[in-house]
Amino acid sequence: MLKPVKFSPFKEKSRHLTRTFCLSLVALIFSAAVAFAQDGEAASGGADDGIPSDPAVISAGEALFKQNCTVCHAVNDRVVGPALRDIHVRRPLPWIISFVQNSQKVIQSGDDYAVKLYNEYNKTQMTSFDFSNEEIISIVAYLKAESTKPAETAATTTTAADGQVAQGGGSGVPSEYINIILIGLLVVLALILLVLVLIVSVLTKYLAQKDDLDEEDKEVVQNKFDLGKTLKGNTFMGFAVFIFTAIVLKSVIDGLFTVGVQQGYQPAQPIAFSHKLHAGQMEIDCNYCHTGVRTSKSANIPSPNICMNCHTVIQNVGGQTGMSPEIQKIYNAIDNNQPIEWVRVHNLPDLAYFNHSQHVKVGGLECQTCHGEIQEMDVVYQFAPLTMGWCVNCHRETQINTKDNAYYDKLVELHEKKSKKPMTVEDNGGLECAKCHY
Ligand code: HEC
Ligand code: HEC
Ligand code: HEC
Ligand code: HEC
Ligand code: HEC
Ligand code: HEC
Repeated sequence: MLKPVKFSPFKEKSRHLTRTFCLSLVALIFSAAVAFAQDGEAASGGADDGIPSDPAVISAGEALFKQNCTVCHAVNDRVVGPALRDIHVRRPLPWIISFVQNSQKVIQSGDDYAVKLYNEYNKTQMTSFDFSNEEIISIVAYLKAESTKPAETAATTTTAADGQVAQGGGSGVPSEYINIILIGLLVVLALILLVLVLIVSVLTKYLAQKDDLDEEDKEVVQNKFDLGKTLKGNTFMGFAVFIFTAIVLKSVIDGLFTVGVQQGYQPAQPIAFSHKLHAGQMEIDCNYCHTGVRTSKSANIPSPNICMNCHTVIQNVGGQTGMSPEIQKIYNAIDNNQPIEWVRVHNLPDLAYFNHSQHVKVGGLECQTCHGEIQEMDVVYQFAPLTMGWCVNCHRETQINTKDNAYYDKLVELHEKKSKKPMTVEDNGGLECAKCHY
């Protein structure tokens, strides 16, 4: 039903009030956010030397550094060029910028420092980079952030574990500041809510006392917030159903991804054989029992004969006399000419091909990279997920160990012609389906 439009001074006034209030609210939130952000920046080192400490800039710098500079530079170690730790202290920013853009120009201009450095590095020319000032500043920002971290003793081996460390340590985002900002904003929001509730109750009280209101306005004033109605309302129900479905879907999908993944699988074994005792405390080499691991596809589980090399003599632990019931089981197996029925822990499906000697002997990987700290386990469990993604990720990240391997000489040469990055398993075809699938 249409009602005649009439001018209501109260409504106009309240609308005006609301608008002013909303505007001041927005201003308040904004200034609070800015204040918190500045707090974060000030706490993380300030910008007095013209080098930004903004996490976004630092991670942009990190990406540039890793793509272009790590062939010759590291933060803490001399590679082809000098270690770049504390470069922002050592050299002024404008010098760094012109040096990265064209080091030869700086050297030829007779800059003492540059000439000395150039000679010290046997006149190795650093590549010129067509980078903008901002890009170089972002690299310096990254180097500065790295310089404030304690120096790690860099390992020269390249295992998957190294890759992970580099990844984890590389992100220079000070997460504690983000948390502080978020908590601050939450507090501000809670305060605003409180203020709003107060204002509403004051206004309602004030209006209720007025007696010059018409019916319609009274209804609005006396209208109580009805929780039950809101909960039953369409919008709320729709929202609840949406959240519920999203959560269910997410857990179903997560569940499907773990079907057939046996990570953590730790079956009981027929004999209480302990790797912690044999490989850990007694330091028996893995190869002594897993004889195939360096020479063939399969690592082999030792036959009772290998156990008997020692256990013909050792029949009990800790100097006790008589036969240990666990060791007796080895004797029984041999007497009955039966194998010990070890329960297999790791098991790839038949469609996948995995070769131990390729990884351990050629690739130089440690058993622990894939099997965890076996020498600490009383009962072996599956440490890695053994999924295709796990294999493929490692092939993407791991550099091939080409040292003293003439087979790779030619390949490395070819690779270096087309890419500056070190050669990974991926570059050697480690992602081709047929390499892993029969
Ligand atoms: C091809 C190898 C190579 C690459 C790639 C390279 N540099 Fe250099 N860099 C050198 C060498 C060698 C020196 C020592 C000076 C010289 O010989 O010119 C050097 C010196 C420097 C210096 C001066 C160091 C000091 O101690 O004063 C800075 C700064 C620098 N490089 C930054 C970078 C940045 C940033 C990148 C990536 C964008 C980069 N370099 C990429 C080889 C390289
Ligand atoms: C290089 C020698 C050596 C080999 C090979 C060896 N063991 Fe042992 N094992 C020992 C010694 C030594 C002890 C006792 C340690 C002690 O006194 O605490 C022992 C202890 C044990 C125990 C503990 C017994 C108990 O009562 O707790 C079991 C079980 C065992 N070994 C099983 C095996 C099996 C199975 C194999 C073969 C797969 C094997 N061992 C191979 C040296 C060996
Ligand atoms: C004394 C012999 C012996 C030594 C030394 C030894 N192992 Fe074992 N290993 C066994 C036996 C027996 C089994 C089967 C029983 C079991 O799973 O515990 C086994 C099982 C395993 C398995 C699980 C195989 C499966 O079923 O999937 C892994 C992985 C393994 N060993 C790794 C290692 C590593 C790594 C080392 C060296 C740090 C090592 N082993 C040293 C005897 C040995
Ligand atoms: C690159 C990862 C990787 C490394 C490194 C590795 N393994 Fe394995 N290992 C596997 C996978 C994957 C399987 C499951 C193989 C299958 O089911 O065909 C496995 C299975 C095994 C088994 C069970 C028997 C078999 O051959 O299937 C033993 C024992 C074993 N590994 C011991 C070792 C030892 C000892 C070393 C170190 C000398 C080692 N592994 C290094 C990935 C690895
Ligand atoms: C921890 C890292 C790592 C994991 C995990 C890993 N690999 Fe590898 N893989 C390597 C390295 C390193 C090489 C290169 C060895 C070499 O030839 O120098 C390699 C080589 C190979 C090759 C030979 C590739 C070629 O081009 O010659 C095959 C096939 C292979 N891996 C299969 C697998 C399978 C299947 C899995 C998972 C069950 C797996 N790998 C898990 C590191 C890994
Ligand atoms: C580095 C080794 C590797 C490479 C390369 C690789 N795979 Fe796999 N793939 C595996 C392993 C290991 C499994 C078994 C994973 C498991 O059991 O969870 C697997 C499983 C699969 C499965 C699932 C089979 C099933 O029954 O669940 C399919 C499909 C598959 N791979 C297709 C491919 C295709 C297509 C490519 C090429 C684009 C490829 N794979 C490349 C190692 C590899």
